[in-house]
Amino acid sequence: MTDQPMLRVRHRGPSPRVRRNRRIATVIVIVVVAALVVGAFFVFAPKDGTPAAEPSDSPTPSSTPTPTPTPTPTFPLDQFSIDDPTSPWLVVNKQRPLNPQDYAPADLVAIDIAGGGQLRAEAAGQMQALLAAYTAETGETMQSLSTYRSYSRQVDVYNGWVSQLGQEAADLTSARPGYSEHQTGWTMDLGAVPNSCALDQCFGQTSQGLWLAAHSWEYGFIIRYPDGYTPITGYEYEPWHVRYVGVALATEMHNTGVMTLEEMFGLPAAPTY
Ligand code: DAL
Ligand code: ZN
Repeated sequence: MTDQPMLRVRHRGPSPRVRRNRRIATVIVIVVVAALVVGAFFVFAPKDGTPAAEPSDSPTPSSTPTPTPTPTPTFPLDQFSIDDPTSPWLVVNKQRPLNPQDYAPADLVAIDIAGGGQLRAEAAGQMQALLAAYTAETGETMQSLSTYRSYSRQVDVYNGWVSQLGQEAADLTSARPGYSEHQTGWTMDLGAVPNSCALDQCFGQTSQGLWLAAHSWEYGFIIRYPDGYTPITGYEYEPWHVRYVGVALATEMHNTGVMTLEEMFGLPAAPTY
């Protein structure tokens, strides 16, 4: 008799405890299956660069171009004037005459070099350092072909070129009076020793020319009329003509690959007067 209630319970189905355990087991199974599905997705999903499906013939929608970052100017271009004839950053070209046209620098000093001549004091000191470094490194020397030239001297130089070449060709090799960097005292023409390729483009392939192209920036000088830049500078390639702009600017131009002062300062090209 005592077992009748138990028999009745058995016929009614599982006890609450058994049902609860079955529910827990069901939840565990669902969780495990879900985990397996998710895991399989990551295992079999396409890897980087592998298309998820075969490319279709339909045109690929054009992707949005990655915006080019605007370079952050890190080199201040307003440290010196580009207009003042006394400034090491003065830009004088066929569109930018010296002002005044008969400007003459006040601090010219002699340079100790074969051929002699004068530059402004700061440029002269840097040129002496450059020449000493060149000789220490190579055992060779350079000579001066031209340094500071006054307005009246430039009159003679320019007229000489016009007589020799005609005005059109002369304007590609010589500045008109009042437009020459030589009048600023920041500029010098260098030559090889022994004399070779003087004021000729083949100077660029001499020991002196190659060294100047590689090292003059270290002393604050640039090759002012580089090869291939006539449409910007207005002059043919002059590998012998170095212009002092200071070590900071020359280094910046060297590091960035900017070849002309016009490009450096965002000025218009100056191919003609
Ligand atoms: N040869 C350069 C352009 C000058 O005459 O200043
Ligand atoms: Zn020159």
